[in-house]
Order: sequence, then C-alpha cells, then structure tokens
Amino acid sequence: MKITDTSDLWWKTSVVYCLDVETYLDHDGDGVGDFAGLAQRIDYLADLGVTCLWLMPFYPTADRDDGYDVTDFYGVDPRLGTHGDVVEVIRTARDRGIRVIVDLVVNHTADTHPWFVAARRSRNSRYRDYYVWRDEPPANNVNTVFPGEETTLWELDEKSGQYYLHTFYRHQPDLNIGNPAVRDEIAKTIGFWLQLGISGFRVDAVPFLIEVPEGEDLADPHEYLRDLRRFLRRRSREAVLLGEVNLPYKEQLDYFGDNQGEELTLQFDFIGMQALYLSLARSDPRPLAKALRARPAIAPEAQWANFVRNHDELTLDKLTDAEREEVFAAFAPDERQRVYGRGITRRLPTMLGGDPRRIRMVYSLLFSLPGVPVLFYGEEIGMGENPDILGRTSVRTPMQWSDSRNGGFSPAAPSRLTSRPPEGGYAPEHINASQQLNDDESLLHFIRKLAARYRISPEIGWGTAELLEHDAPSVLVHSVRADVGRMVALHNFADEPARVRLALEDEPEGAELTDLFGPDRLALGPAGRVELDLPAYGWRWLRVARPGDGRLG
Ligand code: GLC
Repeated sequence: MKITDTSDLWWKTSVVYCLDVETYLDHDGDGVGDFAGLAQRIDYLADLGVTCLWLMPFYPTADRDDGYDVTDFYGVDPRLGTHGDVVEVIRTARDRGIRVIVDLVVNHTADTHPWFVAARRSRNSRYRDYYVWRDEPPANNVNTVFPGEETTLWELDEKSGQYYLHTFYRHQPDLNIGNPAVRDEIAKTIGFWLQLGISGFRVDAVPFLIEVPEGEDLADPHEYLRDLRRFLRRRSREAVLLGEVNLPYKEQLDYFGDNQGEELTLQFDFIGMQALYLSLARSDPRPLAKALRARPAIAPEAQWANFVRNHDELTLDKLTDAEREEVFAAFAPDERQRVYGRGITRRLPTMLGGDPRRIRMVYSLLFSLPGVPVLFYGEEIGMGENPDILGRTSVRTPMQWSDSRNGGFSPAAPSRLTSRPPEGGYAPEHINASQQLNDDESLLHFIRKLAARYRISPEIGWGTAELLEHDAPSVLVHSVRADVGRMVALHNFADEPARVRLALEDEPEGAELTDLFGPDRLALGPAGRVELDLPAYGWRWLRVARPGDGRLG
C-alpha cells in the first residue's frame, strides 16, 4: 500500500497521549481536575505533537477503581464537568489536529449502577440477566486479577442467594455479553459518544469482555468483537478500537481478527514493553530484539501501540519468574515498589535513577519502534511517582504544571486534592512543565522534537521493520522502510560507548545517511558499509537519503 494513498488511516502514524481529566488541571478550584481545565491545555498538547488524546474514564462512578467502575455509561462525572464541556474539549482538540478517543469500560459496571441494583433486587428483574449468576461458584473460582485484594471471582449475593461473576473487584460485577440486550446497550453507548464527536475507544480488558462463562451460549466470542467493529464502521469511517489485550503475541493476533483488521484496530504491545524492561535491566538489547522478531505481521490497516508506562502497574507478568526477579532487582528493589507479585508501581525516571541519557534513549526508542507511541501524561516532563501512595495509583498523581501550590494543578487547599504530587527530587519545584517550556534542553523539548521527527517519518508507522546484524552487542539497530523511504535507528543499552559497523547491503554506494537530530551526513561505502560511534546510552535516527528523493530532513 502506498502511504500517499492512505492519509485517511490517521491512526497509523498518530502520537497518542493518555490522561485522566481528574488529575490534569483543576479550573474551578475544587481540588478535582475538570474538562474546563483540560480545554486550556489543548494547545500545550498540540505543541507537544499529540494527535490523539485518550481520555481515561470520566463517567459517573462509584470511584472505588478510579473511574473504571462506571454507574452511567452515558454520563459525565459532575465533578469533571458537563456534556457541554466534553464537547468543547473535543471540538477544540479537533481544531488543533487532535482526535479524542475515550475509555470504553463495558466488561463490568459498578455494583451501584442502576442495572445491578435492580438485578440484585429480584431474580425476576429484566436486568438480572445483564449480569452472570450461578447457584454455586464454578470450580475455577481463583486466578483473580488483583491478588492480595481479591481472592475469588464469584461473590455471593446474600439476598438472592446466587453468586455473580466479577473478573476484577467484587464491586465490579461482569456484564453478560451473552445477553443480546447487553450487547445493544454497549452499541448504544458507542453510538452515543461517537455522535458527540469522538474518534474511537480504548477498549478496557478485551479478553475478559468477550469471554463467555462456561455454560453460556455464544458460539464464537470473536464474532462479538467483529460485530462491534462493524457497528463502529457503520457509524464512523474514522473511528478506531485500541484494545487492552495483555496476551502472548500468537493469541493477540486473534484480536485483530481473522482477516486482521476486522476486530481491534490497534493493540498495545505488552510483550514488547516487558521485554524492553528486561533489556534495560541487563543493558542488553537482545530480549527486546527477540520480542520484535516474534511480533506477528498484521494487516496494513492494523497497528501496534507502543508504550513505556501506563496508568496501571508496570506489569511483568509475561516474563519468566527469573526474568521478572531481575527486573524487580534492578528497578524495584523495595517490596513496596511492587504490586500483585507481577508489577512495578514506579515511573520510568525514578527506575532509571534519573539518568537523562538513559531516559532519552528509552523515549527515542519508543518513538522509533514500528507502530505508534503512546505517552502517559507527565512522561514528557519526566514526572516520578508518589512513593507514599502504595499500589497502582502511585503514578496517577496531579500533572505538575509549575512550582506553585499543588504544582499548579489546582488552587485548592492541598487537603482537598484526590491525589498528591510527590515530595523530594521529583516534586513540582524540580519537575514541572513551565520550567521546561522555557528550557530548550529540557526533556519536554526533547519529546517535542521526537514527536516532530516521528511525524515527518511515516515509515515508522507504515513501514516494514527489520533488525540489522552488526558487531556491537549492546546496540539495537533497526530499520523501517516504506515507499517513501527508509530510516535506520541505533540505540545503545550500555553505559559505555560503542562502535557499530553496519552494512546496508541493498542501498547503493554513495547513498547518504542523514542524521535526523544533528548535522551529520554519512556516505555509504561499498556494499552499503558504514561505521558509527555511539556514546554511552547513545542513540541516532538516520534517514537513508538517495539522490533526488527530495525528503525533508
Ligand atoms: C483495566 C484498567 C484498570 C482497571 C481494570 C478494571 O485493566 O486498565 O485500570 O482497574 O481494567 O476496569
């Protein structure tokens, strides 16, 4: 497919930014972030180079799982604003070239959702079958997602004497998607938000959503996902489904659909992310290289979403026990920095001891890996977690805008905030957006530059990726190529300089490598040979410039 023919497939080269309205900017001064505050920061996001804004749940909520326990799929949490405020944000973002996608959390509801309240009240309620009930808990009543916080998947509802399924917390009963009425409700929810102007959904917990409990009759659960996608397509030509599917690659592939692209549009690369941390812990790019090699090919319309950190624990569940222990030892030596026996509750800069060389190397990788980059708010300024908050929410602290009260997030008394910024070296006095805006050498400016280079390098999102052989063990060299051209990226995982001898055999002698971040131009020798030096944790993006191709950069 020619890139030039496909400009409507916007998600293939998007820069995604995830934020929670509640912790971004508080406009009305009540200590809670709001849509009016976010509207004021759309220009900041546009300047950063964001083209797709992913909003974490902003619906009315019981607020026992940070908004992932919804009480009304069509509503807006009144603390955050109104539908009018949401539409203002969507419109303003669109005007600045940013599409908005929203979290779709329909595996479950809160137990205070009116459907569950009614379902619980009587076995004859029309809402009873919206949920999954059993007289006895099935034998597989273990494997909870939150070990230490939950022990079972089935909870007895004393009043009606039956057990209901809850994949996550007991206050989050699973919806029964085997019930056509539930599927209709989900479709209506999707239709509703599309009508307000959003461009798709980040779909929460997809494997659990489509999983049908034993004994239920839904021949092929993937048929449901195909249905959802078809519905989405009928309602909007541009809307996407970005799915959370933390499974081995082979199984993940099924979620793109048989004719790949029929189900989810994009999926997070959880396997690559976990391999990246193992590579960082070992100062050895081989685990990441192995993951990249194992990454299955997907349809041209589908895409991988790369990330370094998200709002949950940094899960390491797909590594072996020994590998996970290595990453724990390197980046979360203290037991309190871990959770659920599988994940880390820290952000990248604190894990890397604040080493700017290493932090920049990781973000350079994030933006150069085949796929689209996804940033979690605050990554662009190098925010740390709040170590006094235990568990997953340690990284969901207020955005640090300035060195003033509450980091410029809110004028309210600190006691009114729902989460607090860290103290110490990562406090807003030291890490904040205002200070970095005025400093050309800051991480913020660096990330802006990465986003800008990413956006003029569509081969990263579109191209065919290859790992190149060479003789420097600490360096990952990958190339992406498409009809527009080719880029080669080098990343040094070690604290020592490295010399890399490469042969780009299929490039003509005399072709040049243009450094996308500096003035260098290197001519290729016979058989495409070239020699490059990288500093400790160094990295480079090199465009292959062939005579007369007229590319920018
Ligand atoms: C997803 C979310 C997580 C949430 C869970 C239950 O895994 O990322 O934050 O707690 O679903 O909705």
